[in-house]
Amino acid sequence: MDLKIEELEMYAKENHIPIMLKDGITFMLTYIKENQVKNILEIGSAIGYSAICMCLVDKDIHVTTVERDEKRYQEAVKNIRKFHLEDRISICNQDAFTLELQDTFDLLFIDAAKSQYIKFFEKFTPFLKKGGVVFSDNLNFHGLTHTTERIESRNVRGLVRKLNDYISFLKQNTMFDTKFYDIGDGISVSIKRE
Ligand SMILES: C[S@@+](CC[C@H](N)C(=O)[O-])C[C@H]1O[C@@H](n2cnc3c(N)ncnc32)[C@H](O)[C@@H]1O
Repeated sequence: MDLKIEELEMYAKENHIPIMLKDGITFMLTYIKENQVKNILEIGSAIGYSAICMCLVDKDIHVTTVERDEKRYQEAVKNIRKFHLEDRISICNQDAFTLELQDTFDLLFIDAAKSQYIKFFEKFTPFLKKGGVVFSDNLNFHGLTHTTERIESRNVRGLVRKLNDYISFLKQNTMFDTKFYDIGDGISVSIKRE
């Protein structure tokens, strides 16, 4: 291997690229290992960090991931190559809403624009196998989704409202059984009912 995971973490920190927090990714990787997840769809690749981490759990894992930012996509392609995972990570440079899929997946990981989580969920869960799972990251949004204090920035207020809408949406969704975890930046795990 020409690159270490720690170097990717360092690069992300130095370049202000938002990647999954360490305890969040560890939690998700444990689930992947314990449940023998093999086919993963990720929305939001950034520089390929989480896709690479997921693939390294087991040699039979395949990840399809999508990133709309050209520069981050190029960086992800380079990183995937350095880990020799080109055969197991299919990465697309486009907006997730234009993605066309044929395959079905064991796990859907939603980690892209926070204002669109409900739409991502609705577009991609039809491609999830029964018993499959959706992981969604950043539901605490640095603690802001729990705060009762007034948030000054209108933009941030809007995002917090959208994330809270998503949390309510998950709680009311009877097709999925959702649990919320205060791990990393707040993670939900929604299992598709059989
Ligand atoms: C939090 S980062 C992803 C981090 C990555 N999953 C990791 O942990 O290594 C979110 C990424 O989603 C991308 N993104 C946001 N909305 C998107 C969309 N509609 N389609 C594709 N990518 C999107 C952003 O450009 C950003 O790089």
